Amino acid sequence: MELDALRNRYLAAVLAAGDEAALEEVRLAALGKKGEISAMMATLGKMEPEARKAAGAALNVLKDEIDAALRAKKSALADAALDARLATEWLDVTLPGRPRPRGTIHPVSQVTEEVIAIFADMGFAVAEGPQVESDWHNFDALNIPPEHPARQEHDTFFMARAEGDTRPPHVLRTHTSPVQIRAMEARGAPVRIICPGRVYRMDMDHTHTPMFHQVEGLALGRDISMAHLKWTLEEFCRAFFEVPSVELRFRASHFPFTEPSAEVDIRCSWAGGQLKIGEGDSWLEILGSGMVHPKVLAAGGIDPTQWQGFAFGMGIDRIAMLKYGIPDLRAFFESDLRWLRHYGFSALDMPTVSGGLSR
Ligand code: DAH
Repeated sequence: MELDALRNRYLAAVLAAGDEAALEEVRLAALGKKGEISAMMATLGKMEPEARKAAGAALNVLKDEIDAALRAKKSALADAALDARLATEWLDVTLPGRPRPRGTIHPVSQVTEEVIAIFADMGFAVAEGPQVESDWHNFDALNIPPEHPARQEHDTFFMARAEGDTRPPHVLRTHTSPVQIRAMEARGAPVRIICPGRVYRMDMDHTHTPMFHQVEGLALGRDISMAHLKWTLEEFCRAFFEVPSVELRFRASHFPFTEPSAEVDIRCSWAGGQLKIGEGDSWLEILGSGMVHPKVLAAGGIDPTQWQGFAFGMGIDRIAMLKYGIPDLRAFFESDLRWLRHYGFSALDMPTVSGGLSR
């Protein structure tokens, strides 16, 4: 009678235990060293042999029964915990795959990479300079002294100086040409570099934005001539516009930092409102260029009696508009997602000369 009551109490307690800790308490209360069953086992010694035998057997059965119930409950609790975890960490592997990320490479980034790939193939390294530039690098070193009219044409943004500081203020560079000077200072001659980057001018209409992009080229050697300039630019245009041949027209011009100077036009057609490069009767200006002025070489620390070469500067946004038929420059910088999806490029298509530029 007493053992039956004990059994019922402990089996009920096992059933009621809600977690492993509660279950362990039940085990200790029943079967632990100081547990109730253990205590009863300890009284067997004082019994008559016959009674001890019967009571001992009954206690062992009870002990095994409680032990079995404890184990069963323990594994049930573990199963329930696993089920709960599986329910919260559930993943439907039959769902369709996630769509590709929708971001695109901006046409300016794409074209910059294309330009770099083409010139790298011709042995030009990429050089960089600061966007906040010294007045000297941006103007004086490029043969544009303080009173030169070209300074006014540049619509320059000036940085503030501390009060009382009378040095000329730094400027947001108005062109990438100062990187020529920095490259000469850092690398000397011979040198072959291009410098793509942002430039700034206070100007805003459908073909001008206050920030835009240029790429500068510089090649110096013992006998580099206009002929090398012409070949290099023709080779570049053919590769860039992805046409079998191009025709360039060199128009005499003036830049303070080159002598002689030329603006370069490319033959094109507008038939049917569609721009085609390399054919037709129209000409489109695409860049400025010339032989680097001796004063500019000297400013860059290079002896003009020993070295000579060419330079050019080209608008990246402009050639991007031409190549990809983008009508309005301002749209480049409006961050309109619809525009970016339409004109953007896949992040996985890295332009290379061997693999194709824009495919
Ligand atoms: N720096 C000129 C501009 O921003 C472009 C240019 C013309 C760069 C002739 C050159 C050059 O290197 O030779 O308008």
